[in-house]
Amino acid sequence: MKNIIIYNAKIVTPLGRTSRRGKEMRQLQIIDNSEVEVRNGIIYYVGKTRNNYRDGFYDGYQYFDAKGKCLLPGFVDSHTHFVFGGERAEEFSRRLNGESYMSIMNRGGGIAGTVKATRALAFNSMRSGAATFLERMSRMGVTTVEGKSGYGLNKETELMQLKVMRSLNEDENKKVDVVSTFLGAHALPSEYKDRSKEYIDFLIKEMLPLIKKENLAENCDVFCEEGVFSIEESRRLLSAAQQLGFKLKIHADEIISLGGAELAGELHALSADHLLHTSDAGIRSMADNNVVATLLPLTAFALKEPYARGREMIDSGCAVALATDLNPGSCFSGSIPLTFDLACIYMKFTVEEAITALTLNGAAAIDRAESVGSIEKGKKGDFVLLYSSDYHVLPYYIGMNCVESVIKEGALYQVK
Ligand code: NIG
Ligand code: FE
Repeated sequence: MKNIIIYNAKIVTPLGRTSRRGKEMRQLQIIDNSEVEVRNGIIYYVGKTRNNYRDGFYDGYQYFDAKGKCLLPGFVDSHTHFVFGGERAEEFSRRLNGESYMSIMNRGGGIAGTVKATRALAFNSMRSGAATFLERMSRMGVTTVEGKSGYGLNKETELMQLKVMRSLNEDENKKVDVVSTFLGAHALPSEYKDRSKEYIDFLIKEMLPLIKKENLAENCDVFCEEGVFSIEESRRLLSAAQQLGFKLKIHADEIISLGGAELAGELHALSADHLLHTSDAGIRSMADNNVVATLLPLTAFALKEPYARGREMIDSGCAVALATDLNPGSCFSGSIPLTFDLACIYMKFTVEEAITALTLNGAAAIDRAESVGSIEKGKKGDFVLLYSSDYHVLPYYIGMNCVESVIKEGALYQVK
C-alpha cells in the first residue's frame, strides 16, 4: 500500500457503488487534466490537477505525470479458474478435428483430466502455477480476480485450491486481489459415477460447512448443464449454500438452454455466467432480479459457439459484466484485450459499455462494487494507465495490450 499522486491524467470511469444496468452502462465520467491522490492504498482525491507537481518521491508520496493518458479503474476479471495442474493441448487438437467439448467430457476427458493433474500437485507447485497467472493478468490491467475451485472434486484438493487462493490474497505485495468461489459441483468425480445425488449430499453436508467454518470461499458456483448438474440439483446445492451464507454464481446455459439464468433470478444469485443459449425468459429473470449477466466471449470464441446475446441483455436492462473464464479446457486465455475485441465486434458493445462491464459490473458480480470498479473517493487506489489519451484504443488494439502501467492500491508497476 502506497501513497501516490497521479496528475495530468484523463480519468475515464463509470460511477457508483452498485452495478450499472442497461443504458447506464454507457455513462462514463471523463475528466481531462485530472488528478488522483491515493493515501494508504485508498483514493482520497479525484478531480482536476491541483498543483504544478514534478515527478519523483517526496512528502511521503510518489508523484507521477500521466501525460494526458487515460486512467481507468483496474480491471475486474470476475470469472476464472486459474488454480489447476496440467494442460489440455491434446484435447484442443481433438476439438479442432471436430470433437465437441461435451463429447470429450462424456468420454472421460475434459475436466476429469485436469482433476487428475491437480490432485497430483503439492501445495507449493499449485501456488506457484497460480501466481504465474496472476502476474500475467496484472500486466493486462487486472487488479481484482475471482478464482474458483473445482479441479479437486474431493475434500483434500478442493480445500488446497481454496487455500492457495487465500495464500495468494494474503501476500503483502500482491498485485491482484483474489476473491474465492467454491465450485465443488464442477463435474461428477469418477468416484461418484451415477451417484450425483450422493455427491451433492457430500458437498452440502461436508464441504460447505467446512469451507464456511474456515472462511475459505465467499461464493458457491455450479456447472448447471445437461449431462453435468441438472436444474434441480443446482437448486438444491445453491439453496443450501445460501442458507449457510454463501453468495451464489451459476455456470448457466453454456451448451444448451437449460434454464440456469432463470434459476439465478429465482435464487437472487450475484451472477449468472456464460449465457450463450439463454432464453428471453432468462434475460428477463436476470434483469428483474438484478443478477449480473457475466459474459465470457473468449470461451464462445474458443469453442466456436455463438456469442451470448449481450446487446439484447443490455437493451433489456441487465447489468452485464465481461470476464475471461481463464481455464485449461474450454478457454485457455486470460486475454483482456481480446475480451474487449470480441465484446465490441461480435456482441456489439460500445467501448463505454465494455469498460463498465470489465470494471464496475465485474466488481458487482463478486460483491466488490463498494470498494473497487470505479475511480471514486473511498475506493481502492487500483488503476490502469493506457498508452493513449483515447480510450477507444481498448478494442482497436486487437489482442494487443494497451496498458502502460498498473497501479495497485497506490503502488505503481510499469508494464514492460
Ligand atoms: O467455465 N463450463 C465449465 N467450466 C469451465 C471449463 C472447465 C474446463 O474445461 O476445465 C468453463 O467453461
Ligand atoms: Fe467457468
